[in-house]
Amino acid sequence: MKKIGVAILGLGVVGGGTYKILTEHRDFYKKNHGIDIAVEGVLERNKERALSLGIEESKIASNIAEICSNSEIDIVVEVIGGIEPAKTFVLAALNSGKSVVTSNKELYCKYSHELEKVAKRNGCGLYFEASCVGGVPVIRALLDNLQGNKITSLTGIINGTTNYILTKMSDGGDSYEEVLKEAQKLGYAEADPTSDVEGFDAAYKLSILSSLSFHTKVPYTEIYREGITGVDATDIRCGKMLGYVLKLLAIGKCGENGIEVRVHPAFIKASHPLASVSDSYNAVFIKGDSVDDVMLYGRGAGALPTGSAIVGDIIYCATHQGNNYSTFKNTEKADPATKFIRNFESEYYLRLFVEDRAGVLSKITSIFSKHGISVAQVNQEEAGNGLVPLIIITHTTLENSVKKAVNDINALSGGSKVLSVIRVVS
Ligand code: HSE
Repeated sequence: MKKIGVAILGLGVVGGGTYKILTEHRDFYKKNHGIDIAVEGVLERNKERALSLGIEESKIASNIAEICSNSEIDIVVEVIGGIEPAKTFVLAALNSGKSVVTSNKELYCKYSHELEKVAKRNGCGLYFEASCVGGVPVIRALLDNLQGNKITSLTGIINGTTNYILTKMSDGGDSYEEVLKEAQKLGYAEADPTSDVEGFDAAYKLSILSSLSFHTKVPYTEIYREGITGVDATDIRCGKMLGYVLKLLAIGKCGENGIEVRVHPAFIKASHPLASVSDSYNAVFIKGDSVDDVMLYGRGAGALPTGSAIVGDIIYCATHQGNNYSTFKNTEKADPATKFIRNFESEYYLRLFVEDRAGVLSKITSIFSKHGISVAQVNQEEAGNGLVPLIIITHTTLENSVKKAVNDINALSGGSKVLSVIRVVS
């Protein structure tokens, strides 16, 4: 029987989950795939952690060189996260002729051009299913199953932490700060939640997913990014009354005018399939010209779901001749011919306080009209303090037109002010 030796770099949540799956399913893989996958090495600073998982002391390496020189090891799994030392270790593994399976979205997003070059030069595989949306098999779907399509858009809820926070804010009406604290206590959000709540994690994933979808490099630096730290529970409540659910969306579109990539909070209709993706669940909604709509849903994080993606890559690598690399010219920067659309179109929700005085509404609507914005709906909430809370939903309009209109409204004398602007995805 073919034997495959695996090394795991990092025994945190995902590394531990991967080890558990590989050891508990070893006989199952022997029987069903005809391969014996054995963990032949681990690299983990916390030796106690390795021993507590049942790993033999002889398999615990003291440095990456020991892993690279171990001829029993064929595939190196990198689940350390971050750039260094992960990048150095992955390059060392590839240069020693070992294929790499990684869950590291930041590393793959920022350096896949470099890693892939080294992998190709050494005839090794570089697999990254676990880098995006945990256990949801979206990378393989894009690399293989959906290749017959021109993909025109993908819309995803691809960060579980923010989806959990927004779901709880919507269910309980609590503020962002209150829910974040609760999420940190429960272990859903990290002690330093910046990467998740500011949208970096989602932007790294969107860069990978849109590069694969649109067959051209989409660097994360081209992605418009806005996190959820400024989300006000009042807007979630007002949106709910209008039939909307607030989500942190990752949106990629590819059309005749170019590519549009953005991560920001957005309202979606409660009837949209993504609206029911709650708590820490993730989903990606893809539109292809042949397949039409596809939605992939599941757990975007966690020991076993992410471990599932990693083990899937190990088995793929062990059972396929040759290697699959990215389906686009993988350069550091975008192809100069690729146009990125920054002044994108959307519908908008605006919440304002306007002066409770005759003629003010007409001033506001004339500002909208001056910037070519067509108003779809105006809702007035109860008045207070001489200022009237107003919610305006626009028809599809340009981002820059809305920005100009907001500036003009805020410059009006009398205290009228735009409190929130949220894009609405129809
Ligand atoms: N921190 C990520 C999330 C999981 O909250 O979705 C790993 O990408």
